[in-house]
Amino acid sequence: MSNSYKLLVLPGDGIGPEVMKEVIKVAKSIGELSKVKFEIEEDDIGGSAYDRYGTPLSDETLEKAKNSHAVLLGAVGGEKWDNLDFSLKPEQGLLRIRKELDLFANLRPALCFESMVDASSLKPDLVSGLDILIVRELTGGIYFGEPRGIEDKGNGNRVGINTQSYSTEEVRRVARIAFELASKRGNRVTSCEKSNVMESGILWREEVSHVHENEYSNVELSHMYADNCAMQLVRNPKQFDVIVTDNLFGDILSDEAAMLTGSLGMLPSASLGAVDSNNFRKSLYEPVHGSAPDIAGKGIANPIASILSFAMCLKYSFNMYKESDLINKAVNNVLASGFKTADLIGDDNKNLSTVEMGGQILNQIKEDF
Ligand code: IPM
Ligand code: MN
Repeated sequence: MSNSYKLLVLPGDGIGPEVMKEVIKVAKSIGELSKVKFEIEEDDIGGSAYDRYGTPLSDETLEKAKNSHAVLLGAVGGEKWDNLDFSLKPEQGLLRIRKELDLFANLRPALCFESMVDASSLKPDLVSGLDILIVRELTGGIYFGEPRGIEDKGNGNRVGINTQSYSTEEVRRVARIAFELASKRGNRVTSCEKSNVMESGILWREEVSHVHENEYSNVELSHMYADNCAMQLVRNPKQFDVIVTDNLFGDILSDEAAMLTGSLGMLPSASLGAVDSNNFRKSLYEPVHGSAPDIAGKGIANPIASILSFAMCLKYSFNMYKESDLINKAVNNVLASGFKTADLIGDDNKNLSTVEMGGQILNQIKEDF
């Protein structure tokens, strides 16, 4: 193999830079071991980009992202930038890069490692062996819909407005990804919306059913209201295989699913665009957790979600299945040996630092390669 890939690393804010340092070590090591060249370039996004460029995502950085084979992102946001104008807030950088790269499908797997079973807030038998995949629509819905804004009606009366809107194609393309992925695992898709109160939900349900009937009738499809799904996730999470849902419901349900696995510090994600004429798709990989300002700079953040996001990158962007599996197994082994970071409350708590956890995983990877 003599492949060479350009990776743009955007560590961002809070614990982002700490955990991304560990990812870069893993990427370099995997590159050497598998004789694949990863050209790694770093830049800023979010608050750190605002501090440097006066904007949460500069045009130059966006251009670099468009010219990379994959983007690896840490996290954005923090108190320091709370008082900025809404359009300059760190989160806007993240939303812009998702939108501009047209990364419409956000894959958020919630997988419970066996050694983490006791860290879940649910009973062990409910989460043991849990393996669900949330496919969240990422570039549409209420996050981007127009009209939006805050209208001043006078006399101290204001109205805040956001619009939920979905088109046929926006729903169909994300549904196809969900069916495709389901066909390679449990073969079941649960589509979630609120078609009992929202027209966009009715359209969502109809379009998902359309794709199902015409293209994926071999996959089992069921529909569920999003509030019921939230409830079912804590009642009996193992009933799910793939959940496909809109941008806002997906944001909420994926945090809930993440917590079932013991810690938000464990969950990776992949954001994918459409496959182009060169058989290439734009992609961005980031942990589901945020910038965690409360522990930033302390060196105790869990790097696992970011490292597992890189494993998703190897799988979905570079077809490096073996190396991707290797990372997953290394994480599993390190956790099984009782190594934990502060967010993972367990019995034999040894509380590694970010760098120590990264180091353990790296050693395991080298050992197993
Ligand atoms: C996420 C985050 C983002 C979102 C924020 C930081 C804009 O919560 O990726 O889940 O709401 O999508
Ligand atoms: Mn979120």
